[in-house]
Amino acid sequence: MFLRNLWLVGASWGLLAAALTPPSQDSWYDQPANISAYQPGQLIRARQVANQLEPYVALGMPIEVEVVHQYLYRTTDSLGKPVAAAATLIVPHNSDPSKLLAYETFYDANNPDCSPSYTLRHGSSTASHSLLPQMTQPLDLAFLAAALNQGWWIITADYEGLDAQFAAGILAAHATLDSVRVALAEAPKLGLAPSPRYALWGYSGGALAVEWAAELQPSYAPELRFEGAAIGGLLPNLTSAIDTINMGPFSGAAFVILIGLAKAYPDFDAWVSQNLVEASRDQFYRGVDSCVLGEFTAGVLSDVFRFFSRGRPAFLDSIPTELFGSAGQMGTVATPKMPMYVYKGALDEISPIADTDALVESYCAAEEVSIEYHRILLAEHMSTAVFGSTSALQWLADRLDGKPLVNPRGCVTTTVALVELKKDSLMFAASEVWSTLTSVLGGSL
Ligand SMILES: *[C@@H]1O[C@H](CO)[C@@H](O)[C@H](O)[C@H]1NC(C)=O
Ligand SMILES: *[C@@H]1O[C@H](CO)[C@@H](O)[C@H](O)[C@H]1NC(C)=O
Repeated sequence: MFLRNLWLVGASWGLLAAALTPPSQDSWYDQPANISAYQPGQLIRARQVANQLEPYVALGMPIEVEVVHQYLYRTTDSLGKPVAAAATLIVPHNSDPSKLLAYETFYDANNPDCSPSYTLRHGSSTASHSLLPQMTQPLDLAFLAAALNQGWWIITADYEGLDAQFAAGILAAHATLDSVRVALAEAPKLGLAPSPRYALWGYSGGALAVEWAAELQPSYAPELRFEGAAIGGLLPNLTSAIDTINMGPFSGAAFVILIGLAKAYPDFDAWVSQNLVEASRDQFYRGVDSCVLGEFTAGVLSDVFRFFSRGRPAFLDSIPTELFGSAGQMGTVATPKMPMYVYKGALDEISPIADTDALVESYCAAEEVSIEYHRILLAEHMSTAVFGSTSALQWLADRLDGKPLVNPRGCVTTTVALVELKKDSLMFAASEVWSTLTSVLGGSL
């Protein structure tokens, strides 16, 4: 009894000490009524939050960094309307103020309380529920930590917007580009160099934001001069991704994609509403309040098409066909002008590598591209995130160091079994092991 009470006191003290307000209840996230008076990337409000990030093991020590600031800024949604979005600036100890990385996490959720501006903060998971599969932290925290471990300043956006629209590539692109604008304007007040080198990195859902950002940058943010973008595990074609994952271990993602797109596109939302089987409507939305692991678990092995009265053929209607052929297909807006590093596992079970081969090939037909394409033969989606990250980190380090590109023009494809050992690879791998341990156990970056 005594022990139990002691534990309860300890647990509730922990909750009090960590009282954080989730975005859905936090007025800091409120979009101002005069949002259209703001320019894309213009600051609406800023705040400093505790310099502690949440490790994977929520009851462990926090990850201490130098300083964390958050920005609410104006961006543009998928339909061209001005909206607000939030981003988090993280500065590691002993940082190099000449380098800024826009790192986009794969938070893959339709619940705003899964946004990284909240889930990265120490205390967020103890404020909700922290145990698998209800874990809220972005699964790729270890890569973000690896980038911090390089001494880079990080800006990471809630690129799905204030109401969390997963898979809305156009919004994600705008929110990512505008987060860099706000960081370049505001972070020099905290010591960032006035003209730092900057680049983009994202895997899977994060690559969705970064790839679309690279495509839209020349038209939406032509003044930005990125050193490059590293994207891995991308889903270039959402139609084929849904067909691939349906009824398998990742079929939960199909529900998340459809629900996210419906939030972003009202005509598709109306189409979904009209076409869902009434009796299983609630079940279709059952994962919607969970973060990534919970919602994937909710839909595991399900046949997403059985929730639609006409099944898979319904998706041949004009509304879904047009949406999936444009916003659901990378490469349909433009060819990225910034240098790119693309990595993809040949055994990827979420999006077939053939789709990425085709996307890269279509880009390589253009004159001005510079793409290094890294194909990993023996890796699937989750293992590519890990095995591909060392080379991606190394490529980003070269860009942020200002080193010349291996191929300033054109495309180079390398196919490796698992990892490619280059000069200094071991150093980057060792640094990643260290930052992964810190992400699990807490510590200092
Ligand atoms: C928006 O309205 C607020 C409150 O009235 C005001 O302080 C702010 O300057 C306005 N912003 C712009 C860009 O006009
Ligand atoms: C995307 O995938 C679908 C389904 O496999 C296919 O019909 C379509 O042609 C693909 N789109 C492109 C541009 O490759």
